[in-house]
Amino acid sequence: MSILSSRARKIYIKSKEDIKALRKAGRVVGKLLYEISEIIKPGISTYELEKFAETFFEKENAIPAFKNYKPYFSAKPFPAILCTSINDEVVHGIPSKKRILKEGDILKIDVGSIVDGWCGDSARTYPVGNISSDAKLLLEVTEKSLYIGIDRAVVGGHISDIGAAIQRFVEAFGFSPVRELSGHGIGRKVHEEPYVPNFGDYGQGPKFIEGMTICIEPMINAGSYEVVLAKDGWTVTTKDRSLSAHFEHMIAITKDGPVILSSWGGDETG
Ligand code: MF3
Ligand code: CO
Repeated sequence: MSILSSRARKIYIKSKEDIKALRKAGRVVGKLLYEISEIIKPGISTYELEKFAETFFEKENAIPAFKNYKPYFSAKPFPAILCTSINDEVVHGIPSKKRILKEGDILKIDVGSIVDGWCGDSARTYPVGNISSDAKLLLEVTEKSLYIGIDRAVVGGHISDIGAAIQRFVEAFGFSPVRELSGHGIGRKVHEEPYVPNFGDYGQGPKFIEGMTICIEPMINAGSYEVVLAKDGWTVTTKDRSLSAHFEHMIAITKDGPVILSSWGGDETG
């Protein structure tokens, strides 16, 4: 890894070998997000999903990156392997025996891994049974916005182009990207520079260079972009109680374009 100074902070540039190692961590979270979809059904609790993840990480010989992790935006460590957030909960919901999924819910699962000292991070939103057409549209638009953002992660482009493209796409549907939370660089730490917002203008700030590895993660609200923090100190919810969706991939910037390191295909191609 070499170091590139950006303002006062540092963006760590990864070698081909570093990216190969990151891909292993990405594969673990991609595989979990694929396999867990089988058990997401009305009647299951988010605690049971957490137990599934516990067994999964043991089997994969990987370390869950979020459990006991203290992110830059929090004063205390996160208590679980998975972030499980339902409906108007945007991110960082804590798995609980009391939270039982019901038909029509949308469930966000966000998960981090550590493999050989390198981190993986990915998230998806799942329908629980049959969901409303409004919810379906939010999921489709948010997932599409992730790929629209990924397409902008090219050498010579600006990091701000990602958020600019995401914002313009989702706002055409009346939806809003959350502004208080963002994507981020990833490497030996879950959160590295640069900050990758999901809104903004084209052509601002630092540019992409080969070897950057980032997480792009649009968090899109059906209503206003405003969010509030719940009493548990973790769960972020929409202020207007509208639904929210979240999809996240980790990617590498290469001279051949962006490469997804956390594919959800459940295969070895990640
Ligand atoms: N998954 C979040 C992100 O993508 C981080 C969760 S940190 C935790 O940035 F502490 F809440 F787990
Ligand atoms: Co992330």
